[in-house]
Amino acid sequence: MVGVGLLILTLGMGFTGYLLPWDQKAYWATTVGTSIAGTVPWVGPIIQKALRGGPELSALTLSRFFAAHIWMIPALLGGAIGVHLFLIIKHGESQFPEKQD
Ligand code: HEM
Repeated sequence: MVGVGLLILTLGMGFTGYLLPWDQKAYWATTVGTSIAGTVPWVGPIIQKALRGGPELSALTLSRFFAAHIWMIPALLGGAIGVHLFLIIKHGESQFPEKQD
């Protein structure tokens, strides 16, 4: 489950990073991506507005995505990697090299 979380966070890095060049391709890809998020039943419009920082894509979206891309998601990724490695050792799927006996 933690590994699936890592995958989803990595997809989040791709999604937020793609807006950062702030060119036409980035703008329209993120317009489409956030519109898809807006189609989730019930909570879609709230998610869409939270992602965009308003009703439409703007400089606010860019600063949100930048913050998410350079520290929020990497911080979550770092934590999830730590938990993932911890559980690998705890569950005995692997062990430290010096404990080979
Ligand atoms: C899993 C790791 C990462 C993924 C999947 C990822 C993904 C992306 C993608 C797809 C872009 C758009 C590139 C383009 O179209 O030119 C991008 C841009 C960018 N990323 Fe990341 N990124 C990752 C890690 C990082 C990290 C660790 C940083 C810095 C702390 C970072 C900073 C940036 C910046 C500043 C840009 C804008 C570059 C530009 O506008 O030319 N990224 N990222």
